[in-house]
Amino acid sequence: MTPSRAEKIQFYGRRKGRPLSQNMQRLLDTRLPEVELPEKLDRNWLEQRLSLHKSTETPADLVLEIGFGGGEHLAAIAAAEPAKLFFGAEPFVNGVVSLLRHIQNKGLKNICIWPDDVRLILEQLPQQSLSCVYVMFPDPWPKARHAGRRILNPKMLDSLAGLLRPQGLLRMASDHPIAKSWLLAEAVRHPSFEWRARCAEDWRARPQGWPQTRYMQKGLSEGRLPSWFEFERR
Ligand SMILES: C[S@@+](CC[C@H](N)C(=O)[O-])C[C@H]1O[C@@H](n2cnc3c(N)ncnc32)[C@H](O)[C@@H]1O
Repeated sequence: MTPSRAEKIQFYGRRKGRPLSQNMQRLLDTRLPEVELPEKLDRNWLEQRLSLHKSTETPADLVLEIGFGGGEHLAAIAAAEPAKLFFGAEPFVNGVVSLLRHIQNKGLKNICIWPDDVRLILEQLPQQSLSCVYVMFPDPWPKARHAGRRILNPKMLDSLAGLLRPQGLLRMASDHPIAKSWLLAEAVRHPSFEWRARCAEDWRARPQGWPQTRYMQKGLSEGRLPSWFEFERR
């Protein structure tokens, strides 16, 4: 990750955890360049990449996961749908290495990684290019004075509304009471999104096809119950 990228935008989370072992560093050095999104994402590159996953009639779906953490969720959804292309953004280098390991172990060919703040690529993606966006267990930033750091704010929603195709899906999950409220309140208030829940079970039960995430498992073991929110781009 070049310093110039990091300087462009203020990121408040962690970029590094435990020091990387030699094996992890090797994985990062050799495998990341094979799957890393280019710094300048031009339309030709994207069209070429999507065409590798295209069936004859339908355009390939492009799915984005924001803050993939250890990458187990992204690896699982990509393995389940090999005809779709998946972009994952995560500035935490240990998480990036973890996803590289999943990619290697599962032999996945349909994931591209942006090892940095997602906001740096959103502006480069074509309008209506995404079929689905996942924001799983975002950092809650519960204190009011840190509210500006929350990832799902009106500006982000405006941007995702432009990038999702009509009927595209915004899927979010959280187990933090304050984060649940703001995720829901911001998305419900946004004119471009419609909440798909019809009954309480729709947000209380993990929907089919939404694999577990590491953060969710930790929360469950500590007694925190997740909620699941699915919004459709009008
Ligand atoms: C609480 S963790 C959840 C990780 C994972 N989604 C899970 O459920 O296990 C939130 C993640 O979002 C990432 N994150 C926070 N802000 C981000 C941003 N602007 N762009 C991309 N990722 C971000 C953090 O680095 C962190 O890994």
